[in-house]
Amino acid sequence: MQRRASLKWDAARPEQVQHPQTLTLPAADHIAAGLVIVFEHWGEAAGFAVVVPREDGRADIDGPFVEPDLWRGGIGRKLVEECAQFAMALEAAELVAAASPRAEPFYAKCGFKATGTVDTTHGPVAVMSRSLT
Ligand SMILES: CC(C)(COP(=O)(O)OP(=O)(O)OC[C@H]1O[C@@H](n2cnc3c(N)ncnc32)[C@H](O)[C@@H]1OP(=O)(O)O)[C@@H](O)C(=O)NCCC(=O)NCCS
Repeated sequence: MQRRASLKWDAARPEQVQHPQTLTLPAADHIAAGLVIVFEHWGEAAGFAVVVPREDGRADIDGPFVEPDLWRGGIGRKLVEECAQFAMALEAAELVAAASPRAEPFYAKCGFKATGTVDTTHGPVAVMSRSLT
């Protein structure tokens, strides 16, 4: 998973390579805490997302990231739905995403609404959230 996610080409990669921190894989403590959801396709890791509970009663979704060869096949949405179920189990009231411009339409399709912006290392991006109540 780590090798494939790091080396595979996709159109977003140049932007990410300029900002390698955006390629950071889930933190070891997130993995250890069971906060990482992995989607397998024919026995291989095809995508992942992370749910990070916040102190304000909401939860951040980090990702999802799907193997480029499998984009537009429904895996991203499945990961979001799993994250939503998991965040509800953690009693989060809302799922919050920092959405790159390329990911905004995807999050909108998954029921998220823009609520503001947040500064990142490569400029402001939309904050999008989805109610879980
Ligand atoms: C964004 C990403 C996770 C989407 O994954 P995916 O498996 O292609 O998404 P799905 O096939 O489940 O798409 C769900 C819906 O969003 C739409 N969608 C997906 N990507 C889209 C895009 N770039 N632009 C517009 N709509 C998009 C799909 O058409 C689908 O709509 P439908 O239900 O009307 O058919 C994937 O493109 C990816 O990994 N991108 C790189 C990493 C990234 O940007 N992650 C988001 C973090 S900010």
